[in-house]
Amino acid sequence: MQSDYGYFEEAQLGKPYDLKLLKRLYPFTRPYRLLLFGSIGLVLLITALDLALPYVTKIAIDRYIVPQTASEMLTIDAGVKSEERVIRTDLNDPQQQTLVNKYRKLFTVEGTTALIPYQALSKLKKSDLALLRKDDVAGVTFISAVFVILVIINFMLNFVQKMIMEYTGHMIMHDLRIRLFGHIQNLATAFFTRNPVGRLVTRTTNDVQNMHELFTSIISMIFKDLFLLCGIAVVMLVLNWKLALVSFTVLPLVLYASINFSRRARGIFRELRVKIAEINIRFSETIGGIRVVQLFRQEMNNYRMFKRLNHENYLAGMKQIHVLAIFMPLIEILAAVAVALVIWYGGGRVITGAMSLGALVAFISYIRMFFRPIRDLAEKYNILQNAMASAERIFLIFDSQDKLSWPDAQKGKDLSGLQQIKVVRFENVYFSYVGDENVLKNITFNINTGETVAVVGPTGAGKTSLINLIPRFYDPSAGRVLINNRDIRELDASVFRSKIALVMQDPFLFSGTIRQNIFQGNHNLTKAEEQFIIEASSCQPLIDRLASGLDTALTEGGSSLSSGERQLISIARAFARNPQLILFDEATSYIDSPTELRIQQALEKLMKNRTSLVVAHRLSTIRNADRILVMNRGRIIETGKHVELMKQKGFYYRLHQLQNGNQMTNVD
Ligand code: UTP
Ligand code: MG
Repeated sequence: MQSDYGYFEEAQLGKPYDLKLLKRLYPFTRPYRLLLFGSIGLVLLITALDLALPYVTKIAIDRYIVPQTASEMLTIDAGVKSEERVIRTDLNDPQQQTLVNKYRKLFTVEGTTALIPYQALSKLKKSDLALLRKDDVAGVTFISAVFVILVIINFMLNFVQKMIMEYTGHMIMHDLRIRLFGHIQNLATAFFTRNPVGRLVTRTTNDVQNMHELFTSIISMIFKDLFLLCGIAVVMLVLNWKLALVSFTVLPLVLYASINFSRRARGIFRELRVKIAEINIRFSETIGGIRVVQLFRQEMNNYRMFKRLNHENYLAGMKQIHVLAIFMPLIEILAAVAVALVIWYGGGRVITGAMSLGALVAFISYIRMFFRPIRDLAEKYNILQNAMASAERIFLIFDSQDKLSWPDAQKGKDLSGLQQIKVVRFENVYFSYVGDENVLKNITFNINTGETVAVVGPTGAGKTSLINLIPRFYDPSAGRVLINNRDIRELDASVFRSKIALVMQDPFLFSGTIRQNIFQGNHNLTKAEEQFIIEASSCQPLIDRLASGLDTALTEGGSSLSSGERQLISIARAFARNPQLILFDEATSYIDSPTELRIQQALEKLMKNRTSLVVAHRLSTIRNADRILVMNRGRIIETGKHVELMKQKGFYYRLHQLQNGNQMTNVD
């Protein structure tokens, strides 16, 4: 299903615009529905304000800046031609009265109003003209104020809308990340052998971040653009439907260009992402294995490979630029053509008086506004695509089938017979990591209370794999593992895991202090008990050597300690759990004799009166085991006590001879 490399996974992703994906995202937005709707409502208001601005300009021009044509009624009475533009004065105003008297010949008086034709205005002195048109000046001032107020309101609404949207986006991202983390943490161990850490880190960081962008910028932009485009179309049609239709003639071309663009961009954007993923993987692999790279002098090879990837990335990037560099200017040109059409057709109508100048100016503004979201389409498209790809990858993790099947709640709660681990039994167990390459074959044995069972065998025999089945890190592919005669798949893992201590072959320590690592948040222990554990696990000399003792902080993975020291600390950790069953996987790495002796002593104390399963590499460790299972290639080939096995002169005997030969330099 999933392959081991992020870029293959990326390459096999399906259609990014799957409606199913959106449907699956919906539940995450549910708790924030009201906020989302509120913000969409605000977007509606903001769009209305955006639409209002050119209209306000139109009012300023038509009502105040360009003089109006005389109305029918006035023209008949005052003898002015109806298409003639006139300025009206109010004779009740003494200042205007004086003006009318001063230029008596130019005015036609009609009741309390005097009219002066537009053409005659040039004969007036500039100061007189301002006085004469003071109402218009006041009107223009008023409209400007309205304009500014609208812009300020728009600004505030935008701010509130943005805050709501960001908040919602962050909350959704927060929920998504928590869910993802919880989900990943509960996945079976097998999942982690298939998915490199780097990939999972990307899922919970980058991919979740991309979703955030989807919710914040894209959703509001989609609504805003949609409202804006529809709104502009309606306003233009209402203002002057003929001119609107004329300017719409470029739309088929715009549509064609956009569809064409998205079709090409999709493949190219994806290719670019794949290349970036490849680069990331190559880089992290190199850094992770830097010692091997340097030791085997692979730098040059690696360098060439990286260079090739980098070049491919550049090529993909150029392709993207190429498409963008055509699309964006193309839309600009189409917008310009639309404006030209408006000037040509609309300008003609204004000249013949069939349309007002204000309407023409507003039209030009609207056309510009109309093309802006289309031009930005490319950028949004990219964000949308990224977000969808991220969503798909996140859901791939949510869908991953690597979860071990847990017993239903009813059965899980049934703890009867689990208070004490009495007997652990493997029954015809087969197990494989991948496919049907069994690394464990037909394994059957028992561990009874208080017994120490040892497992020995050459490297790769399956010893660690066998141990991993008991805490249920993996499930057998056939056969059963039983605790107290019950299949562990029917038991609540958290219950039996709490009774098991595992000392791993390569113990993992967390970053934090030694104290935190040993006691793992168990605060119920008294100082004396803590001290007892430290001593019993032979950790005292190690702790004494460190400047801050128990409170020494460890680096990630405990890499500041030697593997022997890590093993000692993990024995102490096992002690602190006071387990009923001990699983001990002896370290393969070379450990000096004093440390080894200490580990052995600690182990003996730990195993005393407890049930244990011990994997041993140094056969001396397990002389006293109640039973020794000798493993080879996934099978148990011999069983018995040390003395019996030695007598058999079989595989164990040969292993022993081999080791003793080697151990001339070792203690035994
Ligand atoms: P084990 O890890 O069980 O071997 O792997 P072992 O007996 O403990 O070996 P040493 O002594 O510690 O070295 C058994 C087989 O399972 C495979 C290994 O390649 C080996 O052949 N394996 C192990 C996997 O395929 N995947 C894993 O994650 C681990
Ligand atoms: Mg092992």
